[in-house]
This record gives sequence, structure tokens and C-alpha cells, in this order.
Amino acid sequence: MPSAMPFHPFAVEQFLSETEQGVVFNFSESGVHPMRYAELFALAQIDTEALFDTLVDYPQVNGSDLLRERIAALYDGAGPENILVTIGATEANTLIANTLLEPGDNMVVFRPTYEQMAGNARNLGVEIRVVDLIEAEGWALDGEGLARAVDDRTKIIHVVNPNNPTGCVLSEKDRAAIVVAADRSGAWIVADEVYAGTERATDTPTASFLGQADRVIAINSMSKAYGLPGLRLGWLVALADLIPALWRRHEYAAISASMMSMKLAEYALVPVTRAKLTARARGLIRRGFDTLTDALGAHPGVFSVVPPQASAMSFVRFDLPLGADSFAAGLLQDHDVLVIPGTKFGLKGHLRISSALPDAHLCEGLDRLNRLTGDILSGAG
Ligand SMILES: Cc1ncc(COP(=O)(O)O)c(C=O)c1O
Repeated sequence: MPSAMPFHPFAVEQFLSETEQGVVFNFSESGVHPMRYAELFALAQIDTEALFDTLVDYPQVNGSDLLRERIAALYDGAGPENILVTIGATEANTLIANTLLEPGDNMVVFRPTYEQMAGNARNLGVEIRVVDLIEAEGWALDGEGLARAVDDRTKIIHVVNPNNPTGCVLSEKDRAAIVVAADRSGAWIVADEVYAGTERATDTPTASFLGQADRVIAINSMSKAYGLPGLRLGWLVALADLIPALWRRHEYAAISASMMSMKLAEYALVPVTRAKLTARARGLIRRGFDTLTDALGAHPGVFSVVPPQASAMSFVRFDLPLGADSFAAGLLQDHDVLVIPGTKFGLKGHLRISSALPDAHLCEGLDRLNRLTGDILSGAG
């Protein structure tokens, strides 16, 4: 029998599924603090009688017409025929990998990043070419590294913008470099844009890559900017010609997202409701980041962070005589606080800490982090 290809687990999600249940201070979340169904119903003025009259049935497999219209309205030049509704951005990413990638291809990814596409590609036997984002330059991309990495076997340049874990938004120069590299090589830009709308310093949402190069697939979901991850509702936006191939894989993977989630997403994407949801998210993000930076100042010289322009989290560098895995393990075991070691995103010496959380809860968890830091510095930790 031929030997099976090695399987690469999805490191960050494995870490979370094994640690997050029951933890009191869960600072590993990548979106804003989620809202309750009751809050969503009130905020979106949902007619619950009509909603509960919904059949518990399979919905339209590619997404209801109304939902695909509402999603398409978020993108210049897109129509419902360009949209496939999926179970979160997660399914969208996996469908794209399974549809586009073939043996002999390579895929270019940036580091640090959310490694879902890279893991999928590795599991398909595809070569991964890593281009660094440079912390000392505000996580700007290594343009020369990108030019070297891309060739005519590059099928996908994968970009998470705004980035997870750094929260940085690509500069115009870096976006242009990605577009030039993709157009030169014929690669697809697969743009995971789940953090668009979570901007901290501006109310202008991060622009989509859609329409900026010949071949672009954009991905988004209800999970981050809208605070509704439990809907498990996402989408991809692609050339209409490509949609059927992705849709055929969706039938294998899931058949469809759920009817109720599609209905709730239809309500949430009504412009006035959408504006309220993103305003809530931005409020939490802005307040939380200020609280986090104040708390990290308690031990001068230990923590530093390139301020995230978007997202609910910060990728914090630390200078202590232990690794990020040990620090995160101690924080969880002894203080009931969960943060993610940067190693889960491919970098040492960092912790990913989310802060778009209710203030008192955030402050208590950060006090605990500072207590552990103090113990380590004094040799007691
Ligand atoms: C960049 C990125 N893409 C996709 C996902 C998964 O999103 P969803 O909940 O829409 O499946 C996450 C979750 O953390 C993420 O950070």
C-alpha cells in the first residue's frame, strides 16, 4: 500500500479546542465579545413570530437569494451570482483550497498568519512558500521576499487582511506588490477579509481585494466584525464562472449552512443593523485596546506591541526568560487566563491577547497576567 501523506493538524484551532472550555478569562477569542440572540433580536428589530415560523428544513444550498443579494451589495461590481454562502469563512477557505490546488502547485503565505489555508494546502501535498511580515517595520511585508517566492507554479497568494494575529492592515504599497506579483504569475489572490470592519483608528472599512487583480476570491463571515460567530455563517465572492466548482465541493462538505443562520444573517446585513453591529464591535475594540496597553505598561520593558489597526487582538512581544508556550501554559493553569502563544502562528516570543471584552473582566484577567509576569521577574514564577 502506498504510504499515506502526513496529516498536519490546524495548530491554533487544536490548541483552542483543547483549552478553551470552562476557562474563566478567555482572552484567546479572535472576534469581539459575542452578543446574545436576545440582543441581536432587539438590535435588528426581528419579528420573532415570523422567524419562528421558519421551517426546520434544508435551505437553498448556495445561500438564499436575499442573503446573497445583501452580501453582494457589500462589494463593488458583485451580484448574487458571485456569492457562495458557506459554514463560516472556515468552510470557504477549505473549499477554495480543494478546488484550486493541485500537486505541483505552490502557495505563497505570509508569516505570522492564521494558518488555515497553509494547513489545508500542506495536507493536499502543495508546497508552501513563506514570506515574512517584518515587525520592526510595523508588520510591512518583505517585498523582495514576495518577488522571490512567486513563480509560474504559484496557484494562490493567500492574504489575511486585516491580519490575524497582528491586526495590521496592509499599506497601499504592500497591496500593490501583491497585485503585481499575482498578475505577473497568474496566481489567485485569496483574500481572507474577516477582520474588515473591525478598524480601531478609523471608521473607514479596509478595502476588499476583490476587483483589484485579474483573479481574486474574497472571503468574509458574520464572526468577527458583527460579533456573531455562533451563526457559523460565511461566504466567498468569486468570478461567476468559478462558483459552480466551489459549490460542487460545498455539497460534499456540508450541503448548506443552516436555514436559521441564513435568516439571521439576512437581518444582520440590513444596512442600518449592520452599522449598529459594527459600531458595537468598534466600541469594544477601541476601549479594550486602551485597557490592554495600560495594563501592559505595568512592567516597563517587558511587553511591546505594534498597535493593531484593526481586529480585537494584539500580537504582543515579550522579553522574559521563558518561551510563549510555557508562559501561556502557566497563565492558564495557575491563573485561569487563556492567551495564544505566538508559535501557533509561526513566531516565537509573542502572545496573542484579545481585548474586545467587557472592561471589568478584561482588567481582572490582565491583573492576573501581570501577577504572573511579576512572579517570573522575581524568580518566583
Ligand atoms: C483569519 C481568519 N479566517 C477565518 C476564521 C474562521 O472564521 P469563521 O468563524 O467565519 O469560520 C478565523 C477565525 O479566527 C480567522 O481569524
